[in-house]
Amino acid sequence: MTTLSIIKADTGGFVGHSSVHPDMLAVARKAVRDAVGDGLLMDGTVSYCGDDVSLIMTHEHGADAEAVHSFAWDTFLRTTEVAKRLGLYGAGQDLLSDAFSGNLRGMGPGYAELEYTERPSEPVICFLADKTEPGAWNLPLYKMFADPFNTAGLVIDQVMHAGFRFEVYDLYEEKRIWFDTPRDLHDLLMYIGAPARYVVHAVESATLGIQAAATSTQRLSLIAGKYVGKDDPVMIVRCQSGLPAVGEVLEPFAFPYTVAGCMRGSHHAPFMPVGLDQAHPARFDGPPRVVALGFQIHDGKLIGPRDLFADPSFDRARSQANEVMDYLRRHGPFEPHRLPLEDLEYTTMRQLEHDMADRWEPLAAPEPVVPASRRG
Ligand code: 13P
Ligand code: 13P
Ligand code: MG
Ligand code: MG
Ligand code: MG
Ligand code: MG
Repeated sequence: MTTLSIIKADTGGFVGHSSVHPDMLAVARKAVRDAVGDGLLMDGTVSYCGDDVSLIMTHEHGADAEAVHSFAWDTFLRTTEVAKRLGLYGAGQDLLSDAFSGNLRGMGPGYAELEYTERPSEPVICFLADKTEPGAWNLPLYKMFADPFNTAGLVIDQVMHAGFRFEVYDLYEEKRIWFDTPRDLHDLLMYIGAPARYVVHAVESATLGIQAAATSTQRLSLIAGKYVGKDDPVMIVRCQSGLPAVGEVLEPFAFPYTVAGCMRGSHHAPFMPVGLDQAHPARFDGPPRVVALGFQIHDGKLIGPRDLFADPSFDRARSQANEVMDYLRRHGPFEPHRLPLEDLEYTTMRQLEHDMADRWEPLAAPEPVVPASRRG
């Protein structure tokens, strides 16, 4: 078995939270080249979306492997050094622990890992996002693997006809469940329609019994009173030969659906599919961005990437995202643009509740209502 791992972290923004500095990418690229040279990795490449750096790696160590996770951690320490030297914003932002211990769970960086036996041709798409959360993958995964209006293969491909299995995490209660579609379709939607809590972690083919998709959904860790490891997600999707075709995997993003994130991680905004040269959130630290990097994996080598959203067929989605952004922005600090109180990443509410405690007055009990028949 080979493992494809995407491990990502924000270790400093250039400028603000909009992008990464080229010197950080250069340091990460050298580290990955050296790790391929040393035999730790079969292959690797470095990419980005917004202020998050992604290490995309093939290797034979399996998921959650200490050797690979500690390599990623060390690489992010190096990019943090660059960010500190240049005074970039939030240097080391996602490195929340002082020391590495075993694997990256709960340490800040996010990761999607998929173990597979390489097919004669192995097309995969690595999706990288900024200014949103892992639940942002719920809607497109549903469309790719369970919606015949998106994916023709569910109807006309013999291998896909039996459907797919979705593994869903409950982030609040640290448990998971499997749904078999199409049988459990309506049950699945009841859960994953609430993407702040229920998040698709993996998808498998019912007929082939192989894993088709993996997201960077980990158990959340509570650090300093705040849940971490919940933002700027990545996802791996394998394509073709009994799995959705490349175009079926990209199709959900032609609709710039609304996700949570954007400014201060606390607003709903449209998800804009872009090429790498546009993967730099700007307006209101958004709109949230997604890039799709296509690879053919051959003997573990990553042949690519192809920058799949850098294409005029996604122009309309980008333009619609701008219209939706105009509409939502005019709500200012009101819901549903601003997230509900419990989902805000930044909040003044706890302090306000404390400060305002003695200014709130109970409402007077209502006068008893006396029926007309009994009035004097
Ligand atoms: P080609 O005939 O170009 O191989 O396309 C096959 C296909 O399934 C496209 O979705
Ligand atoms: P990042 O998670 O991408 O650093 O965004 C933080 C933020 O607050 C943007 O406004
Ligand atoms: Mg940042
Ligand atoms: Mg980010
Ligand atoms: Mg982030
Ligand atoms: Mg954030």
